[in-house]
Parts: sequence; structure tokens; C-alpha cells
Amino acid sequence: MLKEPVIIDTDPGIDDFMALVLAAKCERFDIKALTPVAGNQVFEKVWRNARGIAKLLGINCVVTKGAEKPLILEQELADAVHGETGLGKLQLPESDAPVCEKYAWDVMYEEAKKNPGKLHIIAIGPLTNVAIAIKKYPDIVGLIGKLSIMGGSAGFGNHSPYGEFNIWVDPHAAAIVFRSGLKVQMFGMDGNKTCQMSVQDFHDIMDLDCAIKQEMNDALSFSIEAAHGYGAEAPVLHDAVTMAGIIDESLMEFVECYTDVEVRSKTCFGRTICDVRNTWGKQPNSLVAVKGDKEKFKSVIINTLKKYR
Ligand code: BDR
Ligand code: CA
Repeated sequence: MLKEPVIIDTDPGIDDFMALVLAAKCERFDIKALTPVAGNQVFEKVWRNARGIAKLLGINCVVTKGAEKPLILEQELADAVHGETGLGKLQLPESDAPVCEKYAWDVMYEEAKKNPGKLHIIAIGPLTNVAIAIKKYPDIVGLIGKLSIMGGSAGFGNHSPYGEFNIWVDPHAAAIVFRSGLKVQMFGMDGNKTCQMSVQDFHDIMDLDCAIKQEMNDALSFSIEAAHGYGAEAPVLHDAVTMAGIIDESLMEFVECYTDVEVRSKTCFGRTICDVRNTWGKQPNSLVAVKGDKEKFKSVIINTLKKYR
């Protein structure tokens, strides 16, 4: 089988970790690089996490350098959700892999040129690295095969009334991406929320016997406690839902529409505006996930964990 060349742009992150757990065992993927980006934690920590996760999961690819802050704004952390290290109670050993001195945007361009029309970039953090790639190499837009992101919302946000974290922390980067001419497959709050698992679902997963049981429990138990802290029954594993929706393409329903990002308003700053009724009459630039199947999501996780022997 001809595999799909994939780059995963990530800010690990507990749900990023779970997304990588799924990606690592997806036979369809040929993972070319992990490209960390400052997001849930400071760059140094997410870079170290990405390297540690690659080692733990046996993802054999480069882990690049990347953006150390958003394009214009100061960095906002999500430490209440992901903890001091970014991975809850999960302590990963330091990776001994050689350090890759290349930057995310350069590797994205290199891989896009090597695989014209085929490279799939899956961005599950702020869009800073992707935006820099587009600004530095405008012809990358015609070379990328597919861009899928976790970010945004056609309705409510999780970081402000309408702002979803990944877009809200670097809306200027997100605006560059949505206005670039790329068609963005957007897994935002709307569809992901319909895949929210219960605490019982989490326990079904955490109790499964597999080679990464302990690591998963260390990460997910923190996430569940944190969710209780902010008044939710259980966390939505946004990045993992996104990855599952890419792996099992029947998991999500999408609406095709034009999407833009608000970078000026005080109250709606960092909001994605998804023109689902096409009132602007613009050419659609996005496929927005609106409804998912929670049971399918859970099955993707369980079937993947069975591969960790
Ligand atoms: C997104 O924000 C981050 O905290 C998560 O890792 C996810 O990518 C959800 O809004
Ligand atoms: Ca993330």
C-alpha cells in the first residue's frame, strides 16, 4: 500500500499525546516529521514532550524546532488543562535521538516539494508554524495535499465565549492559513464536542491491557481531574477526536463553507466565523466538522490500543 506522507504539527498536550498514540499505529500514515509549536506549554517543554512521545510510541521521524511564540501576541499557556509539564502526571524519559536543527516550516516545505499534492499536514496546536511556512514559501499552498486542523468553532469557544484555544492564542496565524487558498479540514468545538466521552468510557480505555497503559493513565487521570476542576464531567480529547476523524473518515459529518478569523474585535477576538449559510457568497475554504460518532471514536482508540503489545 502506498502510504500517505504526514506531518503532525503539535504542542503536546495530553490530547496531543492521545492523538499521537492513534497516529503512530495508523498503517496508512508515513509520518515524516513532528513539528512542535509553542501552545499548551512553552516551546522547550512541548519540544521535549514531542521527542519523548516519539521515543515512547516508536515514531521514527524527525522532531523539528518550531515557533517559540505566537506571531504577534504574547504566549498564553493552557497549564490548568495540561499541567506544569504539558503532559499531566506523565513523566517521559529524555529522548536520546539526535537533535534536528531544522525548523518546522522548512521541513514542511521540503516534504511538500518531495511529495507534491500528497503531503497531509495535521495541525493540532496553534497555527503559527503553518502560517510561517505559507509566508516564507507561498508556493507551498499549491504543493500541500491536505491540511487538517484541530481548532476553531462555528459556535461556542472554550477559552472565551467564542474563542477556541488553538485559534484564540494565535488568531493572526490562523487568519493567514484560512486566507491562504488552502482548503482547511477543520475539526473544531462543534463536532468534537459530540464525541465527548464519559468518565466510564475513560475507565474502559484506561483499564485495557496494553504496553502504554501506565503512561496513558498518568496523562488521562490528570485530564479528568482537571475537567472536574473547570466544571466538566470529563474532558473532550479534541486532538484525539481530530486524529480519529482523519483515520476513520466516516466518524464526522462536515459542512463546506467559507471561514474567516476575527483579529480585531474585543468581544469576538480569535473567533472563527464559519459562514455555513453562505451569506457572503464566497468560495468555500473549509470543511467544518459538525457532528461526530462518539462510539466510533471510542472504537478507534480501543482498536489502536490493542496494537500496543
Ligand atoms: C486545543 O487546545 C489545546 O489545549 C488542546 O491540546 C487542543 O489542541 C483544544 O481547544
Ligand atoms: Ca494541541
